[in-house]
Parts: sequence; structure tokens; C-alpha cells
Amino acid sequence: MPFDDLRSFLRALEKTRELVRIPFEVDPHLEITEFADRAVKSGGPALLFDAPKGSDVPAAINLFASMRRMELALGVGNVEEIASRIAGFLQMQKPQGFMDKLKMLPKLAEISSAFPKTVSDGACKEVIRRSDFSLDYFPILHCWPGDGGRFITLPMVFSRNPETGKRNCGMYRLQVYDGQTTGMHWQKHKQGAEHYRRLAASGKETRMPVAVAIGSDPATMYSAILPLPPEIDEMLFAGFLRGRPVEMVKCETSDLEVPANAEIVLEGYVEVGEMRREGPFGDHTGFYSLDDDYPVFHIECITHRKKPVYATTIVGPPPMEDFYMGKAVERIFLPLMRMQLPEIRDICMPAEGVFHNLILVSMRKSYPGHARKVMHAIWGLGQAMFSKVIVVVDEDVDVQNVAETAWKALNNIDPQRDIEFSMGPIDSLDHSSRLPNYGSKMGIDATAKWQSEGFTRRWPAVIEMSSDVKQRVDDLWKRAGLHRRS
Ligand SMILES: Cc1cc2nc3c(=O)[nH]c(=O)nc-3n(C[C@H](O)[C@H](O)[C@H](O)COP(=O)(O)O)c2cc1C
Repeated sequence: MPFDDLRSFLRALEKTRELVRIPFEVDPHLEITEFADRAVKSGGPALLFDAPKGSDVPAAINLFASMRRMELALGVGNVEEIASRIAGFLQMQKPQGFMDKLKMLPKLAEISSAFPKTVSDGACKEVIRRSDFSLDYFPILHCWPGDGGRFITLPMVFSRNPETGKRNCGMYRLQVYDGQTTGMHWQKHKQGAEHYRRLAASGKETRMPVAVAIGSDPATMYSAILPLPPEIDEMLFAGFLRGRPVEMVKCETSDLEVPANAEIVLEGYVEVGEMRREGPFGDHTGFYSLDDDYPVFHIECITHRKKPVYATTIVGPPPMEDFYMGKAVERIFLPLMRMQLPEIRDICMPAEGVFHNLILVSMRKSYPGHARKVMHAIWGLGQAMFSKVIVVVDEDVDVQNVAETAWKALNNIDPQRDIEFSMGPIDSLDHSSRLPNYGSKMGIDATAKWQSEGFTRRWPAVIEMSSDVKQRVDDLWKRAGLHRRS
């Protein structure tokens, strides 16, 4: 059964010993970060701080910070199950006869149960504060010593495309400026920023309504980070993930809708043209991202549950909670990537690559230059455009095994011949590019080279023992008693 809300997920985590409650006072200023960092780095549990210093609201962190918790969050034994469900939909053929149609019914029912449902009221409105509200009520973290202030780190930010009315939900951090004002850190390439640009260009409105939901059932929270095409509603995808519609409720001050089960909702607007310094912030990269100008979010109303729980995360030197969230994205999106690039066998984004810095790709090579076609195609695929280094290897290489990939790739390349550079958009968090958001990428073709690619020498085989010898030595190994020593 999918989780009803954040608190039912917390209960399930506690029951399975995946969550530890901290009953004594811990400071949201740096101390919670140190707890969360130690927990994630040691394979520890999610943490629920019952008494964060300076607030009556408990703070939950590291909810997704292991593959096990990612699976619990998404209600699966293995995230590959979701990839298979997606692949099943993508392979759906037009039914040929009555039996085919009958077989399709469960799939159609699955789709129809994914659509979000508008409801008239929700737990997120148990308390409505139109005046006299302040963000100081919540245990918002000051994550790292060099941060520019306190940041809301796990928000679902809702906006609408002013031209089409389509909804977007993205996770963009919010720096607290005062009790009613935050930064709005939607990076240039993200959908929230696109909505803002379109509204500004229309010249019709000066205020863009924005609503921020904090803490919901885990599949809904998770959907905010998914790099979905702009036309796909994250709430529809969340409904697909949880197998039950997300119930949405209209905001008090705008027509935007938010998940009815949210713990906390901040309603407000972003004023066209208003910019303010945001950052620095200890970021996904493990470095501080530099301060820069971003729009400002003015809060007009806060609604919340009677006893809300504040959901948060920290990012920093990998691996952190976001690595596990990203790993699940990698697995879930592989079938979608393979729909456009069926030659791709597998991809891997190792933790050290912090999502955008490194992507390892194995592929079935069919024609000269094929590996380069794949790297250029990846640079053209949604947020995969940020991939700073792409390493392409043959299909027999297990890219989940980074050591094997490095060994084979490094043997296979003639650097001058096999490495190419390309210019293009760069992740806003990259501190090394010559300009913000624009710089170079590197593609490494580490596949075996062919004559048709101009390689005229012989290409050697990888060393492998013959299987009959292996079998014989299996027995001899035991005879020598060596199996007892390993
Ligand atoms: C914990 C966490 C924090 C994030 N913070 C930001 C952020 O501050 N700004 C941003 O543009 N993207 C941020 N992202 C990445 C976006 O959520 C992600 O790119 C998402 O797909 C954006 O949605 P969109 O395509 O609908 O804009 C964050 C991701 C995670 C996991």
C-alpha cells in the first residue's frame, strides 16, 4: 500500500528500524548536518529530531538516504521494478483482438489511477496563518559553516506555465532572508525559471504565484526531483509511482494546487525583475556553490498540519542522501533513455561524479562513430545535457563496476584520437567552467576501435581462463583445502 503522507512513512521507517528518534535538543545550526552526514556515511538510519533547538516542530532527515529506504519510499523491493513497469508501458502495442484488449485492462487501470485528483480540503490546511506568521516557527537548517544563511532544502515548488497553464513541481532550495521572504533558487535550465521568464516576457503580470509544499508521502516528494519533460506533470508521475492518485487542494491565495497531505505549505509570489543575492551554499558537488542573483519568494500565507513535521536534507561531499535519490533516477529513467537510444545497454553515474560530472555508458556498437553519436545524443537529452564527462564503453563492460570500467576504458583509449570536447550548457553548480552555465564537456570513446574507424592494428581480447580449467580447479581447490581459507 502506498503511504498516505509523510508521517505514515516515518512510522513505517521506525517499525523497520530504518529511523531513529533523537529525543534531546540538537541545534539546526550545523549540528543536525553533522548527525545526518555521519549517519549517511556509515549506512545509518533516517533521523527524526523531536526537539530541534529553537522550534517546537520535529525535523526529519535522511528519509531517502539508502537504497533500502528509496525502495521503501517507492513501495518496491527493487527500483528496477519501476523501470520494468515503465518499459512495459513503452512497449505497449495496439491490441490485436479481444484477448489482447482484456490483457491490457490492468495497464489502463494503472494509468487512470495515476491522474491527480482535486479535493476540497486537506490536512495541510488544519492551521491557516494569513498574518502573524514566520518561518522562524520551523527548524530550518543552517547546513554548513560557510553557508549564506538558513535554507529550506527539501521543498516541492509549484508553479504554472503562464502560456499553457501546465503545472510544474521542482525541488529548488530556498534561502531564508526573514520570516516571510526567501530566495528562489531555480536554476536557469529548470522549469520554474522557464515559467518565470515566460511570465516576464508576456509583460502582462508582475507577480508569479508560487506555492511550496514541505513534507508529503515519499513518492510525491521524490517526484519533485525527477527530470521529466516539461509536458509531464510530476503529480501524474507521483500517482504512477504510488499507484494511487495524488490528492491536490487549491491554495488559499492563488489558483495553484498543492498535495493535500503536505505537512507545511508556503503560499506566495515571485515579483518579476526582483533579484537578490543568494548563497553561498554547501552544495551537491561537495564544494560551496558561489553566491549569485536569484528571484525572491514573498510568502503571503502559511498553512500547516496541527503538529507538522519538517522534512529536510543536506547535500555536501558525496555520498549524501541525494546520491541515493539520483541512483534511483538513473535506474527509473534508463528505459526512457533506451527508447530513444536503444543501443544503450546501461548507464552509471558514480557518487564521485555528483550526477552531472560523470556518466558511464555501455552500448552495442553497430557502425563507425557510433559511440560518438551516443555521447552527442546524451548531451541533447533533457538534464543529461549537463553531463561534463561521458565515457562510452562496449556492451560487455559492466558500468556499475567502476573499477572494471576504468580498467578497460583506460586500456582502450588513444587519448588524442578518442577524446573530444564540445561546448554547451553547464550545470549552474559547476565552479570550474569559464562562464557560469556555459563551458566545455568531454566525451571519451573507450569502445574497441574498428578498421572502419581507421584502426588498422589488431585489437586484443581480454584475458579469460577457459571454463573447463575453471571447473577442474574448482574441485582441486577444495581438495587442497583452500576453500576453507577464503
Ligand atoms: C536535495 C535537492 C536539492 C535541489 N536543489 C535545487 C536547487 O536549489 N535548484 C535547482 O535548480 N535544482 C535543484 N535540484 C535539482 C532539481 O530538483 C531537478 O533538476 C529537477 O528535475 C528540477 O525540476 P524541473 O525540471 O521541473 O525544473 C535539487 C535536487 C535535490 C535532490
